[in-house]
Amino acid sequence: MQYRKIGTTDIDVSSISLGTWAIGGGQWWGDTDEKEAIEAIHAGLDTGINCIDTAPAYGFGRSEEIVGKALAGRRSDVVLSTKCGLWWKDSRGSFRFEGNGKKVNISLHPETIREEVEISLKRLNTDYIDILHTHWPSIEPDFTPISETMECLTDLKKQGKIRAIAASNVTVDHMKEHLAAGVLDAIQPRYSMLDRGIEKEILPFCISHSISTLVYSPLEQGLLTGRFGMDYVIPEGQFRNNLPWFQPVNRKQVLQTLEGWNDLTETYSCSVSQLVIAWTVGQEGITTALCGARKKDHVLENAEAGRLILKPEDIQRMRKDVETLGDPE
Ligand SMILES: NC(=O)c1ccc[n+]([C@@H]2O[C@H](COP(=O)([O-])OP(=O)(O)OC[C@H]3O[C@@H](n4cnc5c(N)ncnc54)[C@H](OP(=O)(O)O)[C@@H]3O)[C@@H](O)[C@H]2O)c1
Repeated sequence: MQYRKIGTTDIDVSSISLGTWAIGGGQWWGDTDEKEAIEAIHAGLDTGINCIDTAPAYGFGRSEEIVGKALAGRRSDVVLSTKCGLWWKDSRGSFRFEGNGKKVNISLHPETIREEVEISLKRLNTDYIDILHTHWPSIEPDFTPISETMECLTDLKKQGKIRAIAASNVTVDHMKEHLAAGVLDAIQPRYSMLDRGIEKEILPFCISHSISTLVYSPLEQGLLTGRFGMDYVIPEGQFRNNLPWFQPVNRKQVLQTLEGWNDLTETYSCSVSQLVIAWTVGQEGITTALCGARKKDHVLENAEAGRLILKPEDIQRMRKDVETLGDPE
């Protein structure tokens, strides 16, 4: 496993991290088996993954609670990453979505952030968070300027409640505003070999401003593992039904591309998931891939990708292949 710095902090994260959105269960992912989830987290930590990403919104607190239980006795070995800004306790903020009978707002007011951090610390059973992200940027009508949010986050850092400030789902303009108001240590954007939008402006900006990247959905929510073959019927109502790359016409092309790399999986003695993850963390400017998983075997397989260093010519070949795919229909 390789370890990489977060911004200019003294925090080192493994190049493969464990994402725990699915561990929160709920409307997107269905029920979670707590014992199995804790075993999966422990397996990751035992194989060199040191960064666990969660959020209050994942299962409305369930993911943070499970992570908190899993980290009992191991807290100091872990870089704990969570978020703030999706708020459902009262009507403060701007409406974002409804789930589990709750109206979820985006609120990046200092008061709601401070309250959220205290709740997260309790759920996570700890007295500090290593990396705190704003989950989504503030929006109208109840908009909070980035300068106000940053003042609050900088104060939380001074108090020792958080060790690094990060922002998820932000643009270059958002990052510039963060930097004008303080230190932005990391961002959390969506990135996979099928979704390379951040390569144009966001990654170059991060590289030149020492901002780390914790990238999410690197496996395109399981599609890039090759596990969802053409005969797989996505259960009605499951979120994967709405994802463009999962539609049969697009899925077919992706699966053919993955099959075209059989010689590479043989050369590197690895699975296709491991090849994809190694490609992702081999791209310039990518600090760590947040690989989501809730089963021990998946975590172990993904963690193993941390030992793989692909040859530059293989990285180039894979890039060419995915560029040929273009955008999903
Ligand atoms: N900041 C944000 O707005 C944001 C948004 C999305 C995600 N995230 C973070 O990023 C993490 C990862 O993203 P993601 O969960 O959307 O997508 P992902 O990592 O691309 O895919 C995760 C899913 O792929 C399947 N999978 C993983 N490893 C596998 C393996 N080795 N073999 C077969 N299947 C495997 C599992 O599906 P099953 O569980 O169904 O088996 C898993 O839940 C999240 O957990 C979360 O921490 C952040």
